Amino acid sequence: MKNWLFIALAFVVSSGNSYAEQPVTKERQQLFKKIEKNTEMLEDLVDELNWEKSERLANQVSQDVLKLKQLFPKESIGDGRSKKKILKEWPSFEKKINDWSLFYRQVEKASKARDENQVENAMDEASSACRSCHMKYRSLW
Ligand code: HEC
Repeated sequence: MKNWLFIALAFVVSSGNSYAEQPVTKERQQLFKKIEKNTEMLEDLVDELNWEKSERLANQVSQDVLKLKQLFPKESIGDGRSKKKILKEWPSFEKKINDWSLFYRQVEKASKARDENQVENAMDEASSACRSCHMKYRSLW
């Protein structure tokens, strides 16, 4: 009797977990991690007013962000920590990604123009995009 209970429990726990089930889910999680790392690096470059490097890195990150859109095929939505409602609200999710990418573009442009105020504002926008999207579209576990 005890064994059965244990097996039933183990089944419930394992079927409710959120391990990446599809290779594409792992791929996007890795890309998110890369973007996270590069965003931290970019923040440092912006603080140091290292214009040439921040221009180049911001350009790369803005393109990486757009690549995320291809990594959310229908059948993978709901996997990992992605919420199912991304599917229903795809246009709004896609817009958030596009806007996020544009903030990095602004960091790139402001770096090119050597504009301290603008580069800081754009960097703030790029870094605060995480929270608002995660609250809406990423589950806690
Ligand atoms: C447009 C929405 C959106 C934005 C903006 C966004 N994220 Fe995410 N992020 C997600 C979703 C959805 C997942 C879950 C992906 C999965 O598990 O399949 C995720 C996953 C991640 C992961 C993978 C590991 C984990 O904890 O789930 C990291 C790291 C991450 N995001 C960091 C960031 C950082 C840092 C920023 C901002 C600089 C950011 N994200 C901005 C939607 C977003």
